[in-house]
Amino acid sequence: MYGFRLPEDFLIGTANSAFQSEGAWDRDGKSESLMDYYAREFAGKPSPGSASGKKVTGTRALPNSEDLPDRGCYFYDNYEAYIEDMAKTGQNVYRLSISWCRVIPTGVGEVNPKGIEFYNKVINKLLSCGITPFVDLYHWDMPQVLQDKGGFANPSFPEWFEAYAKVCFENFGDRVKFWSTFNESQVNIYSGYWTGSFPPLIKNRAVTLQAAHYSLLAHFRAVRLYKSMNLGGKIGAVNCFTSITPARMVEEDLGAAERQTNRRFDWWTQPMLEGTYPRRLLRECAYVRDNMPENFQEDLDKWFIPMDFIGVNYYQAARTTYDSTRLMHSKPVEPFYSSPGQQFIPYPPGMFDAIMYVHEKYHGVDIYITENGCALPNIYDEEKECDDPARVTYIREHIRMACRLIKCGVNLKGYMYWNDADSYEELDGYRLRFGLTWVNHETGERVWKKSRYYFSEICKSRMVN
Ligand code: NOJ
Repeated sequence: MYGFRLPEDFLIGTANSAFQSEGAWDRDGKSESLMDYYAREFAGKPSPGSASGKKVTGTRALPNSEDLPDRGCYFYDNYEAYIEDMAKTGQNVYRLSISWCRVIPTGVGEVNPKGIEFYNKVINKLLSCGITPFVDLYHWDMPQVLQDKGGFANPSFPEWFEAYAKVCFENFGDRVKFWSTFNESQVNIYSGYWTGSFPPLIKNRAVTLQAAHYSLLAHFRAVRLYKSMNLGGKIGAVNCFTSITPARMVEEDLGAAERQTNRRFDWWTQPMLEGTYPRRLLRECAYVRDNMPENFQEDLDKWFIPMDFIGVNYYQAARTTYDSTRLMHSKPVEPFYSSPGQQFIPYPPGMFDAIMYVHEKYHGVDIYITENGCALPNIYDEEKECDDPARVTYIREHIRMACRLIKCGVNLKGYMYWNDADSYEELDGYRLRFGLTWVNHETGERVWKKSRYYFSEICKSRMVN
């Protein structure tokens, strides 16, 4: 078999988010975010996530007051060294998010010059190292002052978000040419408001659908604003895709898989690209239909504006079967593959299926894989030695899949490994290590893992063996 070559303009690099990487949670004027608040509130107690029945590594409890997002990987203090490492890696993109709490600590109103200064320094450093900044406006860290007013579920949320986006576009838009509005709304809104297994721990169907709807209106307002400013870049959003296959080869299971895909991915993506919610869910699932906000289609008709690309986070695949007693008329079944101790079961072909689905359903839209990565078991043995052959294989297999997708004509434009360095994992604290760089969370010491050397070879040669 032959190796693969990455296209000239392909973006390849790493990703991380503000609350997971920066630390310095209360420095230089930054206010408390929902994630800061949640971690403090639940430190020492089992996380409500553990009651959700989700199968994940770790206890999903925040065991002690040291397990807080107050350090991340010390990116706030060490951003120069991190970016120099990225440059040495040979990557040409870095996906980061801006902390709303750093830029506008009161959520709405006065801008914090120190926040602007920090992101200016980061963006300038990236550019001086030849690395394209790929910037998320929102990666789950709602200012707690706004969460106290209902967060996404407040009818004013779209206005708050547009005002915040304006500050970002005005201050950074001359240099940032890739923007995304929201990261994985299906996690922070669906799990946060519907199942209550994620901050802000609300369990209310009507509020969830309302919050999801307001987040969409906020997205449209930011996209409209961005386009009206003629800054010459692209704007999209990031959603995660669990590739779901039917357990049996029967129509009922196909339907179950489609409904799950609709709920997890299309519910968030279809309105952003086409201005409609998935009809199948509205038609077949009474509990969705009956809890929809009033005049939802009129709102979409009024505000819809297509975005330029979709960012897809791919981690895992799943299987489902028809079950009439369940809300979605579908029930998960054991996956074909297993991987003891891992948070997500690696399944590279699932990435092919996921991206091909997006390509076909959304008519060849530009796609970026904005996250793909693994936290390995035995973190204190394998990871501490920074010898992580399983991650090397993971990266190799997924980038080969990316190359196959491109060969099949998919407009796949980039791949960003999650994450750049061991950071804070929302419900698991520092126990799960996804990084290419190993971080000592007590001292900030950093060591490249073998996987970073391997990734670097791909970035530099633009080939994968
Ligand atoms: C997706 C999220 O965007 C990110 O914050 C998280 O760390 C990874 N999944 C891994 O769980």
